[in-house]
Amino acid sequence: MSFLLETSGFSPQTLALDETLFHTANGYIGVRANFEEGEPEGAKGVRGTYLNAFYDTHPIIHPEKLYGFPETGEKILNVSDVQIIRVRVDGEYLSLNSSNTMDFHRCLDMRKGLSCRDFIWKSRSGKKVRIEVKRLASFTRPEVFAIDYSLSALDPVEIRLESSVKGDVGNYYDPSDPRVSGHEFTALEVVDTSFSGNTISMTSRTKATGAYLWVQVDHSFRMRLSDINLSDPGPSEMSQDKGVARLSWNITMSPGDSFTLEKKAVFCDSLRHRDGFKYVKKVSDEISGLQFADLTREQEIYLEGFWMESGIGIEGDDHILKGLRFNLFHLLQSASGNPVASIPAKGLSGEGYEGHYFWDTEIYMLPFFLYTRPEIARNLLQYRYTILPEARRHARDLGHAKGAAYPWRTIAGRECSAYYPSGSAQYHINADIAYAVWRYWEATDDVDFILQYGAEILFETARIWLEIGNFSGSAFHINTVTGPDEYTCLVNNNYYTNRMAQKNLKTAIEIFELLKRSYPAVLSELGDRINLGKDEVGNWTKAAHAMVLPYDAELDMNPQDDSFLQKPVWDFKGTPEDKYPLLLHYHHMTLSRFQVCKQADTVLAYILLGGEGRESTLRNSFKYYESITTHDSSLSYAAFSILAAQLGDPDKAYEYFAETAALDLDDSHKNTRDGIHVANMGGAWLATVWGFGGFRPAGPIPSFSPRLPSKWKTLSFRIHYRASSIEVQAARDKVRLNLRVGPPIDVEVYGSRYRLESELIVSVDRA
Ligand code: BGC
Repeated sequence: MSFLLETSGFSPQTLALDETLFHTANGYIGVRANFEEGEPEGAKGVRGTYLNAFYDTHPIIHPEKLYGFPETGEKILNVSDVQIIRVRVDGEYLSLNSSNTMDFHRCLDMRKGLSCRDFIWKSRSGKKVRIEVKRLASFTRPEVFAIDYSLSALDPVEIRLESSVKGDVGNYYDPSDPRVSGHEFTALEVVDTSFSGNTISMTSRTKATGAYLWVQVDHSFRMRLSDINLSDPGPSEMSQDKGVARLSWNITMSPGDSFTLEKKAVFCDSLRHRDGFKYVKKVSDEISGLQFADLTREQEIYLEGFWMESGIGIEGDDHILKGLRFNLFHLLQSASGNPVASIPAKGLSGEGYEGHYFWDTEIYMLPFFLYTRPEIARNLLQYRYTILPEARRHARDLGHAKGAAYPWRTIAGRECSAYYPSGSAQYHINADIAYAVWRYWEATDDVDFILQYGAEILFETARIWLEIGNFSGSAFHINTVTGPDEYTCLVNNNYYTNRMAQKNLKTAIEIFELLKRSYPAVLSELGDRINLGKDEVGNWTKAAHAMVLPYDAELDMNPQDDSFLQKPVWDFKGTPEDKYPLLLHYHHMTLSRFQVCKQADTVLAYILLGGEGRESTLRNSFKYYESITTHDSSLSYAAFSILAAQLGDPDKAYEYFAETAALDLDDSHKNTRDGIHVANMGGAWLATVWGFGGFRPAGPIPSFSPRLPSKWKTLSFRIHYRASSIEVQAARDKVRLNLRVGPPIDVEVYGSRYRLESELIVSVDRA
């Protein structure tokens, strides 16, 4: 039951929200759940199909352009629309509105990987038809998106069916809404269209970068007509007009007759295939003998494996479990299986954040994949390697002689943030990527990855700290940066940045030593290639050792930065509810002058790296930041939830967790129409597994200290660590660990070491 998301009743008001929630994606293709028949009357939706990393560039206009500001932005494109299926019933277009649409129902089946919609429609003359639609983006064939469109006649009707591919498309914009693009962006032009039988092929090209997109769409019918039994309604009519290619059929139907149009689209682009034209043909040929039901079976088998490895079980909390499954399913839908792409902040569900990748991927989303499907985590990190040359260029633009500065938001590697105080100044992204490389290395022992990609990423990211930091006396300071909390910009010694930078430096040193010891030829080649100076590693060591980590002895807490505690606390009592999120109502500089946090910052550093030894500091900091954090960013709740659980208060943790689990389902940030919040979805997994499950990786030994909230009877999840797969089942009185696959492994449960050979049961009173 909780693998289904369903809504009933036709609701034009929630159209754009539902288009996001019920969207179909597979890490490459993302299709919003738009209506095949077109937008309903009086409703405002966002029609969109996206291919991960398929973008075009545009100039960034700065009326006051200073040195080094980025000049070119990248934007994911809304690509050729293959969703269009228009129906005329006795000449009248089937267009949905509240008075002609009955029994409307939508569903997202997360076990079958299908998005479905069905309803009864009544024409002006009172004739009725039933429509049932299923669609999928294949997980096993990433280029394939398919629609199964059925029409049943409830009265005698003459049907005219039109299926189109529209290449003349642009991105969504709305000049009246500051949260989405206010400008028209039409970057794709059709260069060729052809028909062959029931197949439409279209080639398009991006205007600025000259990238190609190929689409081939095949049509086939299943018929159930009372008087004749045809496999096809006969030859189609072809037409072409202004970038739209269309096939049409006429079908005479009696009550009880029905037909199904199967529309199978194959997409391919020149980022992935040089000769995509041939490639779409090849994939189309491969699926030509398959019906929609066959593709569905493939989905089901794939998803069975996914839920088996990555699923979570909770007894006692169905609503939360459903929300969590929804989040995990969308994480899977959003993650690229190819290193040319990563995970956009909104997945492939909408145009919010323009399809850009942020630190969201490495810190919030990647852990879910790393500990359940490590091969996906590897791809995500490899993507960062592919954009390393751009990150070096960005570092030079910023004036750094050495190293790489990963862009704050990007698709192909350029810095696309025009606002540096909360863009390029977030240097912590370097350390976030390095952190993910470290965690990947720790959990997989994948030395090939380190030799081919990881070492270079670590060295180049580490170098930047010596570029932007300086020794003053015996301490190493990093000044004028922005930490995760975007309400406090351009500060000195941001605790999060400094701790993460310190870890970046230490990991780079550790890998340098490993290479020196065991792979000297690799080190020598890499060192020459990146011109690694003789004194550099020594300087990394000194800087890591001398790193300033702000600490206030009187309050026994870690201030967010050097000047944080000097500022007045924001007037929370005097701020009305409708002024949140604050960023939409107050000038950025005003926010920066107060103690008010948009999101977890210091608290997040504790989650990722632990405390520095004093639990009292964690407790005090937690309380302090809890009272001044607005959680205006959806990335915030998970960190607070995890720390609350770690500090022994699972019920408080649950309050934060409840916000993460249902954030998009409840549309609590009021902008899910622009796309899902994928970082929050990854955060929900972290809050479950790191928080309530108490899972922590530590070198070769994973540890578990489950702490369940009162509402839950049990929690179960699986962790892939090194070569072993471990099932954890936590109840109030005991924790059971099963070794599912792989060699015996040492584990810690509530701080005690055990050898997991097959099954281990630890009672909670031993905690
Ligand atoms: C958050 C950033 C985040 C971005 C994309 C912003 O609101 O403050 O931390 O990276 O959204 O999700």
